[in-house]
Amino acid sequence: MRFDIITVLPGLLESPFAHSILQRAQNKGIVEIHVHNLRNYTDNKHKNVDDYPYGGGSGMVMQIGPFAACIDKLKAERAYDEVIFLSPDGKTLNQEMANELSGKGNLLLLCGHYKGIDQRIRDIYVTREISIGDYVLSGGELAAAVVVDAVVRLIPGVLSDETSALSDSFQGDLLDAPVYTRPADWNGYKVPDVLLSGHQAQIDNWRYEQALERTRQRRPDLLDD
Ligand code: ADE
Repeated sequence: MRFDIITVLPGLLESPFAHSILQRAQNKGIVEIHVHNLRNYTDNKHKNVDDYPYGGGSGMVMQIGPFAACIDKLKAERAYDEVIFLSPDGKTLNQEMANELSGKGNLLLLCGHYKGIDQRIRDIYVTREISIGDYVLSGGELAAAVVVDAVVRLIPGVLSDETSALSDSFQGDLLDAPVYTRPADWNGYKVPDVLLSGHQAQIDNWRYEQALERTRQRRPDLLDD
């Protein structure tokens, strides 16, 4: 799977992809992540990629020219399954969407800044708009990193134990059961006996009950579905 990400702040995306699971997925050759600096696609001598909004108002708007030049170049090199714009007015990311995206081949992600991007970019190029939650970030970069992380860990072969992604919270619409590790007794705070019992069926049943109870208490909306 391949991600191309267009941004004015490529430095913001260096660290999130350079550690842990995302780094390993790239080292294994399962995922490629390419970050493109939008400022390399402007004719403006000051490398500006934004301008004042037509009709007035506060804030700057990202221009269509640099985005079009970068997107057209990338699209000439390969076909993209989706061109995704990260935006608070997109559809909210959830596990189902991450599952769906993990089955795609090439994804192109556009990060906005300032007041927004010229609507024509969205009309002409964008096939899907994703929000990571009902709050406003300074730009799309951190949202893009969240999307990439949520998607990549679902690609077969990325996690060493494939079942660990399948048993994540939200897979199967339940939150995760609590987990424990050694010591079994820490200053009198004990691990539930059943987890030490060695009876796998009882353990599985306990985990299911705990997951159900946790979901009932914290996210009853998940059970309504
Ligand atoms: N850009 C700014 N805020 C965002 C959000 N909540 N989700 C996705 N992209 C964004």
